[in-house]
Amino acid sequence: MATKSGEGFSSSFGAIMAAAGSAVGLGNIWRFPYICGKYGGGAFLLVYICFVFFIGMTLMMSEFVIGRRTGEDPMKAYPKLRPHKPGWRFVGLAGLFTCFLILAIYLVISGWTLNYFWESLNGTLAGIADGDFGVHFNDFASSPFRPVLFIVLFLVFTTVVIIGGVEKGIERVSKLLMPILVVLLLVLCVRSLTLDGASAGIAYLFQPDFSKLTGEGILAALGQALFSLSVGMGVMIVYGSYLPVDDNILKTSVWITVCDFAIAVLSGIAIFPAVFACGQDPTGGPGLVYQVLPMVFNSFGGVGRLFSIVFFLLLSLAALTSAISLLEALTQWLSNEKISRTKSAVLMSVAVVFLAVVASFSFGDGIWSGVKIGGMQMFDLLDKLTGTILPPICALLTIIFFGWFMKKDDIIDELSNHGTVKIGYFDVFYYFLVRLVAPAALLIVLISGLIN
Ligand code: PHE
Repeated sequence: MATKSGEGFSSSFGAIMAAAGSAVGLGNIWRFPYICGKYGGGAFLLVYICFVFFIGMTLMMSEFVIGRRTGEDPMKAYPKLRPHKPGWRFVGLAGLFTCFLILAIYLVISGWTLNYFWESLNGTLAGIADGDFGVHFNDFASSPFRPVLFIVLFLVFTTVVIIGGVEKGIERVSKLLMPILVVLLLVLCVRSLTLDGASAGIAYLFQPDFSKLTGEGILAALGQALFSLSVGMGVMIVYGSYLPVDDNILKTSVWITVCDFAIAVLSGIAIFPAVFACGQDPTGGPGLVYQVLPMVFNSFGGVGRLFSIVFFLLLSLAALTSAISLLEALTQWLSNEKISRTKSAVLMSVAVVFLAVVASFSFGDGIWSGVKIGGMQMFDLLDKLTGTILPPICALLTIIFFGWFMKKDDIIDELSNHGTVKIGYFDVFYYFLVRLVAPAALLIVLISGLIN
């Protein structure tokens, strides 16, 4: 319990569940399959693996070190480690700003998910004809009221958990939901793999087609790796500040990364074979899980409704534990400014709901769909900023701070729990990653992706 407020995770297991809960979310189940489909299936997967394990995991450890070392929120953590250079707080600020934007778009998609869960439960989806799912999705997502209702409902769940506290709210909910999520996902995988024609989906996911992997695709893989692991914007600094003092940061980070990666791949295994088995288009884009999957579920006959309920419940739970971490980052910062935790959580929720509603109104044929910034609708702009552009920029600044401005002795001391945990030659390897490999890779991919 490193923080001033005395809040913290009670055990390493609780910390892993909470941080994995943050990492595993819409990014894994909604975003990963459609991005992977767009940029060449297996080819994308190969690049993605490298980014996840070499850059994403490195950043996660770095953020944990910064968080636990200081016990502060991201805005205060950087200046605390470099007291005579207060300008570094802007890196923390950029991260929190990114969290705010991510939470807004996250709420919109979580709202859709909750609605689809509800429509699976009450049988609406089961009654829709195959050719009508696209229209159904667009009509719903572009309408002014229904999406907002579900956005608010989802946000209320999120806020209630945050008000419950770090240990009694976040940790407890994550410990309960994460295992449920894994079981639900495995059920779906088994069903998908046993469909006739499933092998085409598996081949699609694992056989590389390098012709589709452009510079833009590589940047998308990097953005996705960072987004999916929740690194780069300070959320893991926040969770790092709640890590138990004797937690082995290296081990914890490996667990979270493996878990996040496995769940992304399992989502691909749950989705692609089913999509292929039903002759649907795997490059369906953001609508893939809302327009294609319900059709796939209906083709299963009676049990399809059950699978639909399971899938959208799974997606809602995954989204909830991630939204919790985003709101926690914003709440921790505000409550360090001498505002109570409850008030901070409510204020932040109210602020973010406005942006979420704007994004929702501007989606598809929504009532504000004509409003464009730089030729893009608000929703698309937010998706691009939060999924592809801002995470690599924030991550680059974080890793430069870590590798070049933080004292190496402090890093090793924190990683090894003051010398009580053996890290072997890992320090040499790790330092090489944080000083050279990660910044160079981030810079190159960012520049080449942006000018492409
Ligand atoms: N990692 C989450 C996901 O994959 C999204 C997220 C990003 C959560 C950044 C917190 C911070 O859905």
